Amino acid sequence: MKVRSRLAWGVAGLMALPFGTAQAEQAPAIDLAKSVARADAVAKQMSGDEKTVLTHGIMPLPFVPGTVLPEGSVPGAGFIPGIPRLGIPALTETDASLGVSWVGGLRKDGATALPSGLAQAATWSPDVLYHGGAMIGSEARAKGFNVLLAGGVNLMRDPRNGRTFEYLAEDPLLSGELVAAAIRGVQSNGIISTIKHFALNGQETGRKYVDVKIAEGAARESDLLAFQIGIEKGQPGSVMCAYNRVHGEQACASDWLLNKVLKQSWGYKGFVMSDWGAVPGVEAALGGLDQQSGEQLDKAVFFGDVLKAKAASDPAYAARIHDMNRRVLTAIYAAGLDRNPTKPGGKIDFAANAQVAEETAKQGIVLLKNNGVLPLAKTAKSIAVIGGYADSGVVAGSGSSLVHDEKGPAATRSLGGDSPFSALMQQSYHRSAPLAAIKAAAPAAAVTFRDGRYIADAVEKAKQAEVAIVFATEWRTEGLDQPDLSLPDGQDALIAAIAAANPNTIVVLETGGPVAMPWLDKVAGVVEAWYAGARGGPAIASVLFGDTNPGGRLPVTFPASLGQLPRPKLDGADWVEPNFSGDAEPGKDQLHSDYDIEGSDVGYRWFARKGQKALFPFGYGLSYTSFSASELKVSGLNASFTITNTGKIKGDDVGQLYLVNRAGEAKQRLVGFKRITLEPGAKQKVTVTIDPRLLADWKDGGWVMPAGEYGFALGKNAEDLGAVVKVKMSRKIWKD
Ligand code: GLC
Repeated sequence: MKVRSRLAWGVAGLMALPFGTAQAEQAPAIDLAKSVARADAVAKQMSGDEKTVLTHGIMPLPFVPGTVLPEGSVPGAGFIPGIPRLGIPALTETDASLGVSWVGGLRKDGATALPSGLAQAATWSPDVLYHGGAMIGSEARAKGFNVLLAGGVNLMRDPRNGRTFEYLAEDPLLSGELVAAAIRGVQSNGIISTIKHFALNGQETGRKYVDVKIAEGAARESDLLAFQIGIEKGQPGSVMCAYNRVHGEQACASDWLLNKVLKQSWGYKGFVMSDWGAVPGVEAALGGLDQQSGEQLDKAVFFGDVLKAKAASDPAYAARIHDMNRRVLTAIYAAGLDRNPTKPGGKIDFAANAQVAEETAKQGIVLLKNNGVLPLAKTAKSIAVIGGYADSGVVAGSGSSLVHDEKGPAATRSLGGDSPFSALMQQSYHRSAPLAAIKAAAPAAAVTFRDGRYIADAVEKAKQAEVAIVFATEWRTEGLDQPDLSLPDGQDALIAAIAAANPNTIVVLETGGPVAMPWLDKVAGVVEAWYAGARGGPAIASVLFGDTNPGGRLPVTFPASLGQLPRPKLDGADWVEPNFSGDAEPGKDQLHSDYDIEGSDVGYRWFARKGQKALFPFGYGLSYTSFSASELKVSGLNASFTITNTGKIKGDDVGQLYLVNRAGEAKQRLVGFKRITLEPGAKQKVTVTIDPRLLADWKDGGWVMPAGEYGFALGKNAEDLGAVVKVKMSRKIWKD
């Protein structure tokens, strides 16, 4: 197998584009080799003290005790001083994948909140992710930040993970392609994007010490492949290592993850920054860590004088320091931070940016059930809207990724408690009320609202209306996992009562991940709107009234029960006390999670292996029109097929091509996808170039595709597959 490689951050690898993934607008090409050479030369000019300037930094937020905001810092996630003598700019860092984080309103400014990562991934459109990344990157630049801590791409191994909302999907191809597009978008603003959290950061319970066990091959074929594709095609200037342990080592000190996989096997030339409070000691430098972030949150500043002293006596550390500086400088020069410095006070077109958020939300909404009640008629006479703070806004996930506009949240709901992070632990709602948007869409309708706290009162209103729309929210946050997949606060009972009162009951879910739906067969329609972001209200109304024909598809499996999961009980859930900081109580940091149970068969792959039927499968989504897929042809790594709009209105479909068996064994893997828009009656031929890593196993240090017959099928989703087309493949082996 001839391996064409591209020096994209040094990541060599087959650059075959998976089927139909239209390359989003290209960010400026990065001349990496030139940046590396310049970085090496400048790093050599550094004096003793200068050598540990770029290797550590603070979290410039006054609520971290003892923090003084340095000159040139912007209140946000991170600040790394520059070296003016050498023309090296400071790094001003902000979170995250959904926009410029709000940090409690500290800067008295606001930003545009994209919908959640899941909502973005449900578009299955790299172009949508590119434009979202370009928008939030432009706001970061305008606010004076030159590093956006975006690119959250951890696969959903457990649907209860509190940060599922922030991430993208359960599949490495979908996740890798989409995160790459988002990173290209962010970096098109001449700033650095991260990709995070490297790697296998699959739960928030005990996040700083949960120790993941997984065979190298399984990791390479799943979580690591998502990062590899994301790095290859996104070229992020920095990789953020994760809090958790892998094979007993902290990820931020893991020689296997950072040196062997990322820097040697993939040839990555950028720098590894730690997560905040994720550095175990100075030895992490030898493990491959290049920069200690948010150093106040660690037990000590390891990468300053301690590192300098080590370098003075140990050549391994001295060599590392040079490489650390060279890597940070490579990212700075590749992004052009020195040539095109950022400074606060830039202009932001919030109206235009809101349109990007709204379009993303519209394209990510997934229609899960429709007995014909949708789309609603704009001539509807009476509509009862119930619950979900729909009169105020749409729910947002909490933690470092939280974004709000300058007016702040439309509503908040504190969880109380006395932990240091209690102030952060509150539900909040973006200022975009679905109720107002529904009223605007159906001006002649009598629209009532009840918040749903009193079921009988809400039922009364539902009885009086033609249609009842129940908004159900499932808030999630960084630092905590969900105890199960039920809707909280008695919402399941509310929905069941409303459905019993009105046969035209529609449920709009605003969830941070998969949820159970015990009332599913009692309601007429279900729409998954996720965390719909700054313009969630109008986006939801647009789908409800048919101005938008929903084209979203699930990027994650909705299980029918927790018993279907590789780990029905979340590891640590029965003894780790939920706490946002993630720190262990003394002597209680031995938490283990065995990912070898499923290995690389994450999500739909696991369901296929176990022959399980999901509540709603990966790739599922309905439309107000209908589509057919036909004429699948596969020859080697190239495939093509045709999608036809067989209905009466324009709509989007997502072509999904799956490997379904290989050399005589069942094996399901997504090998290509493409979202297309078709007028009624129109058809389009789409082509696929399959990335061979998706057909291979990782064995003995390389990829192995066994000889034999490979079966491929088109899918409406991971469970609804068409005829199998068989292709003979010869054995192929190659290195990364
Ligand atoms: C957080 C998150 C990380 C974020 C960082 C800075 O704990 O894990 O995603 O970028 O700290 O806020």
